[in-house]
Amino acid sequence: MVNEQVSKAIRQSNNKVVRLLIKNRVVRAKFKHKFKRELKRVNQQLYEKIQLISVLSITNQELNIQNNEKNQRITELIITHKRISAVNEKFLAVNEELILQAIETEKRVLKLTQTHHKNRILNEQLNHMQKLESISRLTSGIAHYFNNILGCVLGYNEMNQDVSDNIIDESLKAELESNTKQIDVAGKRATELIGKMLTYCRQDTVKFKIDVKPTVEVIDEVLVMLRPALTSEIEIQTKLECAANIQIDVMDLRQILTELVINARDAMKECGGIIVISLQIVRNVRPYCVACAGKISGNFIELSVTDNGSGIEPDVISRMFDPFFTTKEQGEGTGLGLSIVNGIVHRSQGHILVDSTMTAPNPGTTFRLLFPILTVI
Ligand SMILES: Nc1ncnc2c1ncn2[C@@H]1O[C@H](COP(=O)(O)OP(=O)(O)OP(=O)(O)O)[C@@H](O)[C@H]1O
Ligand SMILES: [Mg+2]
Repeated sequence: MVNEQVSKAIRQSNNKVVRLLIKNRVVRAKFKHKFKRELKRVNQQLYEKIQLISVLSITNQELNIQNNEKNQRITELIITHKRISAVNEKFLAVNEELILQAIETEKRVLKLTQTHHKNRILNEQLNHMQKLESISRLTSGIAHYFNNILGCVLGYNEMNQDVSDNIIDESLKAELESNTKQIDVAGKRATELIGKMLTYCRQDTVKFKIDVKPTVEVIDEVLVMLRPALTSEIEIQTKLECAANIQIDVMDLRQILTELVINARDAMKECGGIIVISLQIVRNVRPYCVACAGKISGNFIELSVTDNGSGIEPDVISRMFDPFFTTKEQGEGTGLGLSIVNGIVHRSQGHILVDSTMTAPNPGTTFRLLFPILTVI
């Protein structure tokens, strides 16, 4: 077949040189073919080896080509990876900046919220103080005016008592005496009420003074004085564990103890029980004052009065320090007791906490008055 094509080409060619070259090639190919055939005949083994080498050389070439392609692909991948890394780094930088900005914004929002919250509390406190100031001024005016009228009523009542001494008609005398007695009893109650109203109003104006009388002594005195005001079903216990003195006027200390013990007595009216009065040093107190909502922190002398009475409803706790707030029957309470306690305690730089439970098995209330520590003996 090859021979035919070659002889055809030679025949068709006009060029001598070309003809010669083609002929030469044909001759060489023939020789090669002949040589191979001869080699196969003479040395089969060598022939096969040569064949194998040529196959291997072709495979090698193909592998080289494949390797080159792979290397090229790897180079491309490395370049792409570098590009992605660069983009990634940029993205991370932008992301980091955004995160920092978000944190800053969050901080600012938090600060604004806190300031808003503080402002709201301050506003509420200001409103409350303004309300209390108006009530105090009104109370003071009424108390003074009413005191004058009451003085007049009781003065005339005394005169009536003198007149009744001179009446001869026994039945008329008895009636007049009974009437003057009733006026006297009501008058005394009115005098007490006016006294309380004046004590409540006096708090802002009275000069703050500290008494040096030991607190424990004052507590003992007050309890002796209060014993007759309590029923036999009520027992008083004291746990006076520290000898620290509260920075307070003795009269004020008497007043607050009286108000709290009388409240405890009234809460135990139904079943009696034990009133515990304790004095101790408390450390790291961190809640909020129930009366002024101010934050409490640090160490204090705690004067507490605990009863096992009815307990106090939560909505009463939030209002009981307001002046004239009372849950007692008309004529039984003025609603000024805790307002006075609140005023005295805060004037002494103190705060108030209240723990109260209304449910069995341990209903009752503890009023905890916290005072700054003055001296510890
Ligand atoms: N220990 C207590 N247990 C239960 N409730 C109490 C106790 N202390 C106070 N309260 C409640 O708080 C209210 C206000 O007390 P506050 O001492 O100011 O006035 P009051 O006792 O009603 O009258 P006043 O003390 O002027 O005679 C009381 O009416 C009562 O409802
Ligand atoms: Mg009271």
